Amino acid sequence: MTHCGLPSRFIGVFDSGVGGVSVWREIARQLPHEDVVYLGDQAHVPYGLRSLDEVRSFSEGVVRFLLDHGAKVIVIACNAASAASLYYLRNLFPEVPFVGMEPAVKPAAERTRTGVVGVIATRTTFQGKLFASLLQRYARDVRVVTEVGSGLVEAVEAGALDTPETEELLRKHLAPLVEAGADQLVLGCTHYPFLRSMIERIVGDCMAVIDPAPAVARQTACVLAREGLEAGYPRAGDHVFCTTGDVADFAAMLERLLPQPVLQGNCEVRAARWREGRLELVE
Ligand code: DGL
Repeated sequence: MTHCGLPSRFIGVFDSGVGGVSVWREIARQLPHEDVVYLGDQAHVPYGLRSLDEVRSFSEGVVRFLLDHGAKVIVIACNAASAASLYYLRNLFPEVPFVGMEPAVKPAAERTRTGVVGVIATRTTFQGKLFASLLQRYARDVRVVTEVGSGLVEAVEAGALDTPETEELLRKHLAPLVEAGADQLVLGCTHYPFLRSMIERIVGDCMAVIDPAPAVARQTACVLAREGLEAGYPRAGDHVFCTTGDVADFAAMLERLLPQPVLQGNCEVRAARWREGRLELVE
């Protein structure tokens, strides 16, 4: 640990809020020796309702914060932030390895039998060049039906994981995809895996649900190995979660989202705050 209480060399993971914890938990499972610092930018959630420029500027601030504190690789555990800023960040920090996220259209297109793939994500994710290029690369022979999951990020952030209101909202969003004949459902927002059991209850008999988090964790492992950046010690990794929102609320959400102990090492939640466009740790 450094004087500010963060590990000295870590995997930096970020999202607009608690959604990226669905990616973090896979990283913690697959890479148990790695130290990880997670940043949830809850002061600005949801990213999916903001302009690409705005999300790009938040993402740059978060990445600068993680790099300043010792990140060795950055995992953008947010489809909206990846859509708005992955190319930009790679240009801005050419020496930094980034792992971005994109809706898992490729495996869905390979697996579909009906020839129709459903993708549910936020508006920002569908707007970026990343999604357009994804369709060009992998969806030439299948029909991709998209649905903006309005209100779902807010429901997860509010902890409304199993309420009748959330179920009604999900039914409304999933109905057009079922009607279109999709047999694959791509979760294109990292908040949505926390609604997975409800989603499967609604469409589980006609659609396979695809969450890209395990693939993102595998890709993170590959990048670490390729760059020679793997943790060189056998102890369990330390995990620090920083939020630009309320620390007690974030800690309570973590307990709800991760009912089984996923962690073996230390885990703590810290406050971070935006000041004049820069992000800083609250001591
Ligand atoms: N969890 C994020 C994603 O994967 C963004 C949610 C949001 O803030 O709109 O897109």
